[in-house]
Amino acid sequence: MTDVTSPVDLTAFIAGLPKCELHVHLEGTLAPELKLSLANRNNIAIAETTVAEVEATYQFDSLTSFLAIYYPAMNVLLTDDDFFDLAFTYLTKAASQGVRHVEMFFDPQAHTGRGVPFQTVIRGYRRAVVTAQAQLGISAELILCFLRDLSAEFAMATLMESLPYKDWIIGVGLDSDERGNPPSKFAAVFARARTEGYMLTMHCDIDQVGSIEHIRQALEEIGVDRIDHGSNIVESPALVAEAKRRGIGFTCCPVSNSFVTHDMKSKEIVELLRGGLKVTVNSDDPAYFGGYMTENYAALAEHAGLTAAEVLALARNAFDAAWLTSRARSGFLDELDAYGASFGVS
Ligand code: ADE
Ligand code: ZN
Repeated sequence: MTDVTSPVDLTAFIAGLPKCELHVHLEGTLAPELKLSLANRNNIAIAETTVAEVEATYQFDSLTSFLAIYYPAMNVLLTDDDFFDLAFTYLTKAASQGVRHVEMFFDPQAHTGRGVPFQTVIRGYRRAVVTAQAQLGISAELILCFLRDLSAEFAMATLMESLPYKDWIIGVGLDSDERGNPPSKFAAVFARARTEGYMLTMHCDIDQVGSIEHIRQALEEIGVDRIDHGSNIVESPALVAEAKRRGIGFTCCPVSNSFVTHDMKSKEIVELLRGGLKVTVNSDDPAYFGGYMTENYAALAEHAGLTAAEVLALARNAFDAAWLTSRARSGFLDELDAYGASFGVS
């Protein structure tokens, strides 16, 4: 990593950087304006009538308090068009920030559990993926997340329900409340998902009870391909060495971290990056935490004093850790290298 010219205007460098996002929850992109317009369209009574009132409800200081607001907000999502609009609005914003490829989580159980068919959810999201590729030139994939605070049986039934749509889903993940819900609870579900051809990732949220043990289980018992968040791994040199040897990607979310833990965890993220782990920058739930990709890169760069070469390395890590074909990956990496070279950064 070398900067051959200096100084580089880091704000401009980040704004134009070709980006790859690997950790965004589609349901976490429900901005107040869209929530209000979907409530109107579907005749759903909600307590708030203005954007400011909806924004005022977006208050939390932990993962648990965030989830308590996040799930009820989804009641406005009912039809194929609603899921399309949610995903297409996010993809439009992402493309405007230079995101070239994105792998997006969705939570089917948060919808099927309240009577919305799986097929409605997946068809709306898939239509957004196809339309965004054609109209915006952004490449996108879907990752089905199981809700870890619900039963392993419900997760397995959801996995079975997904199989007719396997070609539209690149992998599976695990999210929601981690307290008392370790990766091992879902060992059979993830083993079956692997045999069905899905890639595997899991949230190991920040500063959880048992964070290190959960990271160990995800790596050693489940055999994940990536870990979402996971920066507590810094506490275990042995696990860091294993993750490095296996080239495991870590999808870190600096702005989200500062909401749910009061700390961006920039020190940990940068220690892992400088130690050679495949650390990436992502937005998590941007409508709730107020930062899309550009804001997340800018916040981390400012907080941690990153160089332009380190910012470039973070973007490269994301394309490396993405579930792309080797041909698509090389195309994006060539574009990234050319972008860095135009600023004299490699
Ligand atoms: N669901 C949406 N965002 C999440 C996060 N950051 N952690 C766990 N579950 C989530
Ligand atoms: Zn997340």
